[in-house]
Amino acid sequence: LMTLPIGGADMPVVISIYNAFTGLAVGLGGFVLQNPALMIAGMVVGAAGLLLTLLMAKAMNRSVTNILFTSFGAVPRHRQGRVKGSLKPIEAGDAGVYLRYASSVIIVPGYGLAVARGAQKLHELVKLLRAAGVAVRFAVHPVAGRMPGQMDVLLAEAGVPYDLIAQLEDINADFATTDVALVVGANDVVNPAARSDRSSPIFGMPILNADQARKVYVVKRGQGKGYAGIVNTLFYADNCNMVYGDAEAVLVQMIEAVRGLGSAAAA
Ligand code: TAP
Repeated sequence: LMTLPIGGADMPVVISIYNAFTGLAVGLGGFVLQNPALMIAGMVVGAAGLLLTLLMAKAMNRSVTNILFTSFGAVPRHRQGRVKGSLKPIEAGDAGVYLRYASSVIIVPGYGLAVARGAQKLHELVKLLRAAGVAVRFAVHPVAGRMPGQMDVLLAEAGVPYDLIAQLEDINADFATTDVALVVGANDVVNPAARSDRSSPIFGMPILNADQARKVYVVKRGQGKGYAGIVNTLFYADNCNMVYGDAEAVLVQMIEAVRGLGSAAAA
């Protein structure tokens, strides 16, 4: 019942705190049964869960009390979808060409990249762009994806060098001087409403400032919302174009477009 009013992007923190409670229950069970193994295991699980909860709440710039006792997910229906601007679709190939001629690109990976299993293709695109002289980096948000560290693991598995991956606080200021922000399957973590809209349920959560780049490309399949279930004002911004499609398929088309430019130049 306590969980019912909580929703949207706060759910991971709630799950984590319940996980800590499990440890506490096991520890107390061990105390009642006078079983040291249960007491120790319970305390370890409880402490780990509590630490994770505090770290996740800190990453979202909120207190645990605020998360648990305010109706975070209750977004009035009439407030959703009231945004200025329009969605501007663009072909994946055209976006690929633009990326090739940019001098700096920051890639924001999100949950959709994991769903599409597109990390290998993304790395392939990055290698092509870097070979063509484009400065490419990845910006990772602490709660991107569905598990802590999911994006770091995804990129590491795809063989992306660690020095290309930057965390939010280290790279956020650089978006303003970057040619292109390529958002691949991310949504909530780049929603500018978190910065500016006091009525937004994610207001106060630190986000990646992708909207401040000169050009933004967002790769996603359609009009699907992110985990928090709210409209993303970034998608309607003047400097933003939508590249619709499954992330892996879109990345393949971008790779072909960039390769095509290479062979055209050689010819
Ligand atoms: P989300 O806000 O969940 O957005 C993911 C986007 O990916 C969706 O808008 C979806 O749009 C798109 N997508 C899905 N499948 C795709 C595919 N195959 N190809 C291309 N795009 C695809 O993701 P995020 O920005 O990474 O943010 C994470 C959210 O999850 C946060 O709200 C966070 O609080 C929450 N959360 C995080 C965790 C941890 S600890 N990381 C745990 C639980 C929840 P379409 O449907 O239109 O394609």
